[in-house]
Amino acid sequence: MIELKKKTAQAIFGLTGGVLSVDEIFSCLEYPPDSSMGDLALPCFRFAKTMRKNPAVIAKELADSLCLDEAESASAVAGYLNIKIKKEYWKSVVDRINSLGDDYGKNDSGAGKTVVIDYSSPNVAKPFHIGHLGTTVIGHTIKNLHEFSGYRCIGINHLGDWGTQFGKEIYAYRRWGSKEAVEKNGIDELVSIYVKFHEEAEKDPSLNDLAREEFRKLEQNDPENIALWKWFIDISIAEYKKTYELLGIKFDSYCGESFYTDKMQEQIDIMREKGLLELDDGASIVNLEKYGMPPCLILKRDGSTLYPTRDIAAAVYRKRTYDFDKCIYVTSSGQSLHFAQWFKVVELMGYDWYDRLVHIPYGTLSIGGEKLATRTGNVILLKDLFNTATEKCLEIINEKNPGLEDKKSVASAIGVGAVVFHYLLNSRIKDSDFSMEAALSFDGNTGPYAQYTYARCCSILEKAGACEAAADDKDTQLPFERDSEIALAKELARFPEVVIAALEEYEPCDITRYALDICTAFNKFYQECRIISDTGVNMARVRLVSAAKTVLGSALHIICMKTPSKI
Ligand code: ARG
Repeated sequence: MIELKKKTAQAIFGLTGGVLSVDEIFSCLEYPPDSSMGDLALPCFRFAKTMRKNPAVIAKELADSLCLDEAESASAVAGYLNIKIKKEYWKSVVDRINSLGDDYGKNDSGAGKTVVIDYSSPNVAKPFHIGHLGTTVIGHTIKNLHEFSGYRCIGINHLGDWGTQFGKEIYAYRRWGSKEAVEKNGIDELVSIYVKFHEEAEKDPSLNDLAREEFRKLEQNDPENIALWKWFIDISIAEYKKTYELLGIKFDSYCGESFYTDKMQEQIDIMREKGLLELDDGASIVNLEKYGMPPCLILKRDGSTLYPTRDIAAAVYRKRTYDFDKCIYVTSSGQSLHFAQWFKVVELMGYDWYDRLVHIPYGTLSIGGEKLATRTGNVILLKDLFNTATEKCLEIINEKNPGLEDKKSVASAIGVGAVVFHYLLNSRIKDSDFSMEAALSFDGNTGPYAQYTYARCCSILEKAGACEAAADDKDTQLPFERDSEIALAKELARFPEVVIAALEEYEPCDITRYALDICTAFNKFYQECRIISDTGVNMARVRLVSAAKTVLGSALHIICMKTPSKI
């Protein structure tokens, strides 16, 4: 549709004598909500002043003189030019989708460019809870959108693998933990002794000093503490990977905060040379008052580094290693100030690429209206949420389709997909509340509904394959007869634009909602149109189903969903 819109804009440009540029006209072109008004519309109000004509007159003149091969007719209504596109065009879109397959919808706006995406990044030893759902699935969707647009993408899991929490974890492990328990229960055991530490430290604050001492030893490379710390990280990563696998996520790098330990001094020296560091009660800060922000903390009183210090060193390292065109960070909006502060420091340090750092914030997630607290152990783990959803799906499958092959992995694809889809239906910045019941419903605007539609496409294609031999030649020539066929093809034609818009706004919900639009159009078409009948197979419709399957599949994969062919 982009090409046709460009062509249309070009034709209108020729008729309006340069009042607006081709690009401006292109962006004015709309899809009328009701297709009886046409398939493309141009509001003519912006031409009125310069052309000194009333918009209705302009629309009429354009309708009379527009010359566009693909247009069946053009008309003027209330200052709008409405264009009806020929059926052949929609058929050609379907052919194009079928010939491009999974490449349909891709663009090359990122060709030759590199983007680094820092996302998920849980804190080792603390729970990987549902607050991380956002960064994980929004981050990966944004990575997929960049890949779809031709960028080289580097996904980095900036693990929180350094800091005083390791002193607590090491202390807690020696006091209450055991090798067997950690080997058996993995991360759950690490979290539970960490929680225990906090409970005990409430009663006896001197434990905090002991934990600090363990961290100090870790910093000084004490071999035993280093070995424990590495072990905790390995166990954690192995667990995270199980969750990532459910979402089809792979990272290119797991370089966490500890990786930058020896890379900060160089940056601190630069800050000092540039006169950016000020002492504040013994701590070193960069004063950002001029920029309306509180100071950025670089060194604590005891000389130890902080979260922003590591982020600055990491950004420089990434620039040198990957030479990125953009370096993106996906975190909750609670960290927006942190990013604004250290981005400013990078600018003040004189790095000319400071404006290529992008923070993408998202809102808070609650479950049944409850906010999630860390530390207290009163949290919902991401894997538990996925497990619950999967079990519920398995129950439904056992009830409705007990003979289904590979039930467990289908249940996991649908359960996990349901959670992700439900979450990504909201615009990212909004706070959202999660309801398992709503997420798992098969008839609402849900993941299961979208996956079910996909599976329906697969089963039609399978059947059609079996009947293809019976297909009548003349069926192949059938034009699109019904509005619902054209409506579906039109929906599919929008995909490349949806991808571009979602990438520009860093907005996964554009894709989620678009997947639903395809499902709605598909199901209407499926109700109205016979694809396979006793007399033969309507191949034009089979091709439409095949195109719908391709586009719906691509959209769902972009938002981290799997697409089983049978449900
Ligand atoms: N580990 C942090 C957290 O869980 C997120 C890290 C985000 N990335 C970064 N480079 N600061 O809050």
